[in-house]
Amino acid sequence: MADVLVVGGGIIGLAVAQAALRRGADTVVLDTGEPGAWHVAAGMLAPATEADHGDHAIVRLGLESLDRYPAFAAALGVELHEAGTLVVARDRDEAEVLDRIHAYRGTLGLDGERLRPTEARRREPALAPTVRLALDVPGDHSVDPRALVEALRREVPRTRGRAAALLTAGDRATGVRLDDGTELHADRVVLATGAASIDVPEAARVPVRPVKGQVLRLRDAAGPGLVTRCIRTLDAYLVPRADGRYVLGATMEERGWDATVTAGGVFELLRDLSEVVPGLLELELEEALTGFRPGMPDNVPAIGPGALEGLLWATGHWRNGVLLAPVTAELVAGVLAGEPLPDWAAVADPRRFAEVPAG
Ligand code: GLY
Repeated sequence: MADVLVVGGGIIGLAVAQAALRRGADTVVLDTGEPGAWHVAAGMLAPATEADHGDHAIVRLGLESLDRYPAFAAALGVELHEAGTLVVARDRDEAEVLDRIHAYRGTLGLDGERLRPTEARRREPALAPTVRLALDVPGDHSVDPRALVEALRREVPRTRGRAAALLTAGDRATGVRLDDGTELHADRVVLATGAASIDVPEAARVPVRPVKGQVLRLRDAAGPGLVTRCIRTLDAYLVPRADGRYVLGATMEERGWDATVTAGGVFELLRDLSEVVPGLLELELEEALTGFRPGMPDNVPAIGPGALEGLLWATGHWRNGVLLAPVTAELVAGVLAGEPLPDWAAVADPRRFAEVPAG
C-alpha cells in the first residue's frame, strides 16, 4: 500500500511520517484513532530537569531534540510556551537534590539560577511561603501535545486500524496484519506504537512496557496568570497552558494496562502541588486521566533499524515522548533515506536487545 507504513498515530508516529514524507518517501500512518499518551501528556520540553528519571544518554537525545523544537513547532503553527521552568524544593533534603540538579546542568553548560524563597516568590507570587529553594531554568519549555497532534494530522495521510502482528517473509518485514485479519503491505514498517506492542518475531522484539501516569487538568475561570512558568517539585509538575488551563502530573505506577484513576493518585498530585502552589485548589477540575509511558529496561528509547530487514523502531520514549519527537523523526527519516545513525544516537539502537545466545 505504501513504501513506508508507520504503525502508530501518536506524536512520534506522526512526526516520523511527516519527516519521511518531506524526504520524498510514500508514507502512510496506521492509526487506531484512539487517544494515546499524547492526549494525557503535559508536554514538558525539559531534558535536564527530567534527568533524574533517566541518565545522560537520554539527556543528550533530549538536548538534540530541544534544539530542533522551535523549527518543528513553528512549521506546524504550534506555539511553544517559553516562560521556562521553576523547580522548587520544600525541605532540606529536596534542596540538596536541587543543588545536585543545578550542578549537573552546569556540567552540560545549561543555565539555571538558584533562587532564595523571596526571589522565587517575587517571580511567581502564587508560590507558598514554605518553599525553601528554587531553581529558575529559563530554557525548559512546554508545548501542548494535543495541538501538535491536530496539526500533524493535517499533514500526514492516515488509515484506520489496529495492528496485531508484523508480517514477514524470510528475514524481511513486509507489512502488518490487523486485528480483523486485513493485511497491509509496505517495503518498510516503522513501529511507533508507544507502550503497546504487536506480535513481532522474538529475535526482533524490543522489551517495551506500559508505565502508568495519572494526570489532572484544571481550569482557572479567571484566565491565565496563576503561575507563568512550569512549576516542578521533585515528584510532580504543574504546566500552564496559555488559556488558563493547567496540567498536573504525574504518578509513576507499574500496573500494566490498568487505566483506573484512583483517589490515591488524585490525592497525591493535589497534595504535592498545592503545597507549593496553594491557589490551585480553587481551580475547576476538568479532567482526570491516565496515560501509559513506553518504558524500557534501560530507560533509553529504541530508534532506528530493527533486527529484521525493512523493520524500524521508534518507541520506548519513556517520560520524553513529546520532547523527543523531532529528533526521532529526523533519525528515522534519515535511516529510511539510507543514511546511517549518527554516533550520538547509537545508544538508542533497537538491536541492543537482540537475544543473547544461550550460555
Ligand atoms: N514527562 C513527564 C511524565 O512522564 O510524567
